[in-house]
Amino acid sequence: MRPRTRTLQATLTLAVAGVLAAGMTVALAPAASAGTTLRASAAEKGRYFGAAVATGKLSTSAYTTVLNREFNSVTAENEMKWDATEPSQGRFSYTGGDRLVSHAQANGMGVRGHALLWHQQQPSWAQGLSGSALRSAAINHVTQVATHYRGKVYAWDVVNEAFADGGSGGRRDSNLQRTGNDWIEAAFRAARAADPGAKLCYNDYNTDGINAKSTGIYNMVRDFKSRGVPIDCVGFQSHLGTTLAGDYQANLQRFADLGVDVQITELDVMTGSNQANIYGAVTRACLAISRCTSITVWGVRDCDSWRGSDNALLFDCNGNKKAAYTSVLNALNAGGTSTPPPTSTPPPPTSTPPPTSPPPGTGGCSASVSLNTWSGGFVATVKVTAGANGTRGWTVSVALPGGSAVTNAWSATAAGSTGTVGFTNVDYNGQLAAGQVTEFGFQGTGAAPGATPTCTAS
Ligand code: G3I
Repeated sequence: MRPRTRTLQATLTLAVAGVLAAGMTVALAPAASAGTTLRASAAEKGRYFGAAVATGKLSTSAYTTVLNREFNSVTAENEMKWDATEPSQGRFSYTGGDRLVSHAQANGMGVRGHALLWHQQQPSWAQGLSGSALRSAAINHVTQVATHYRGKVYAWDVVNEAFADGGSGGRRDSNLQRTGNDWIEAAFRAARAADPGAKLCYNDYNTDGINAKSTGIYNMVRDFKSRGVPIDCVGFQSHLGTTLAGDYQANLQRFADLGVDVQITELDVMTGSNQANIYGAVTRACLAISRCTSITVWGVRDCDSWRGSDNALLFDCNGNKKAAYTSVLNALNAGGTSTPPPTSTPPPPTSTPPPTSPPPGTGGCSASVSLNTWSGGFVATVKVTAGANGTRGWTVSVALPGGSAVTNAWSATAAGSTGTVGFTNVDYNGQLAAGQVTEFGFQGTGAAPGATPTCTAS
C-alpha cells in the first residue's frame, strides 16, 4: 500500500499540532533511565522495538551491525507471506523465514510473524481458487505455517488488510472475502489451534486515528471478543505522511480497552521537517498505553525502504542515525508505563508440559470437540482430559459423516481419513497427569462430525 496522506492530512493537520507540542514537552524532560540504543531503551519499558527485515540483507554487515545493535524484534518483510511459504499447493518452503528466526534467536530478538492471510502476495495457485477449495486451502495454510513456527514467534499477523478504504467501514472485496464473511474468524481459530502461545493479531493500514476504517475493525474486534473468537492484538501499520492524527493515541487506547494488545507494526514517516516529531509522537503514544507492546519500523535504513525516495526510516543509507532516531530514543527514555520486559525468546506455548515422571496410566480420559464450520469444510479443536490415574498415551476416535474426510491434523496422528478416525497422541502430549488437559486439531472437507468423540487412554 502506498502511504495514504490526502484525507487524513486534510482533516487532521490542525489537531496534530497540539499532540506534537505536548509530546515534545515530555521528550525534553530528563530521562529517568537513559538507554543508549532503541532495543535497550524499549526493553527497559517492557516493549519490543523492531524492524522489518529482508533476509537477503542479513549477509550485509553494514546492515546487520545496525539491526543487531538497535532492534530486539524482527518481522520478515516478505519471507513469511503465502507466496513465499507455499509456492505450490501443499509444498511448503520456509528457507527465508527460518533464516530470520535463526538470526533473531542468535541475537536475542523476538519475531513477529507476518502475514498468514492477505489478499496480496498470494501464490498464483491460490489466486486461481475460490469457494470451499480456497477456504480449505487458506485454513490449511494457516495451520501449517503457524505449526511450523510454533513457539518461535511472539505474535502473528493472522489476517492482513481485510477492510476497505473509504467511508464504508466494511470489508474489502477479495477472493478470501468471497468465501464467506467468517473467513477471518476461521483463520484465527486455526491459528490458535496451531500455536496457542502466539499473540494473534489483525493488522491494517489507514487506521492511524479514529475513522470509518478503524471503527469497522474496532467493531469486528469487539464482536470477536464477545463471541470468544481468539484474537489477542491489533496491528496499526502507521505508514505516515507529513502529519499525524490528533486522536492517534486515543484510537490505540479504545482498542486496548477492548482487552487486546496494540502494536505499531510497519511504522515509516515521510521525510521533511515534521518527520522526527511524528516519530517521537508515535513512540510516546505507544508508551502511554500499557497494552502497546511493540513498535516496528518497516525497514532499517532509508535505502532499505519500500518507500524509496521518501527517506522514511530512522537511519540514512550509510547507517547513520537521523534526527528521527534521536527523537524516538528520547521518547523511549523519557516516558511510558513499565510492563514486564520482553524475553529474548518468545513465550512457550500455553499447553501444559508433560509431567517429569511418567504417570501410571490406564486412568481413562475424556474428549470434547469445538468446531469451526463453513460450507464444505471444518476445523475441529479437540480437548483431551486425563482421568484419575493420568495417561501414558491416548487415542481419540471421531466418527465422520459419510462423504467427509480429514485432510490434515496437528498435535496428533490420524489413522485414516474417513469413517471413524482415530487420533493418537504425538511424542510430547501423550503423558498427562490426572486431570491434565491437552489439545489437538484437525481439518476436514464435507460436514463436521456431530457425535461426542470417545477417548481411550493407555
Ligand atoms: O524478489 C523479487 C525479485 O526476484 C524480482 O526481480 C523483483 C522484480 O520486481 O521482485 C521481487 O519481489 C518484490 C518483493 O517486494 C521483494 O523485493 C515484489 O515484486 C514486490 O511486490 C514486493 O513488495 C513488497 C510489498 O509488501 C508487496 O505488496 C515490499 O517489499 C514490502 O515492503 C511490502 O510490505 C507491505 C506489508 O507486507 C503489508 N503492509 C504494506 C507494506 C508495504 O506495501
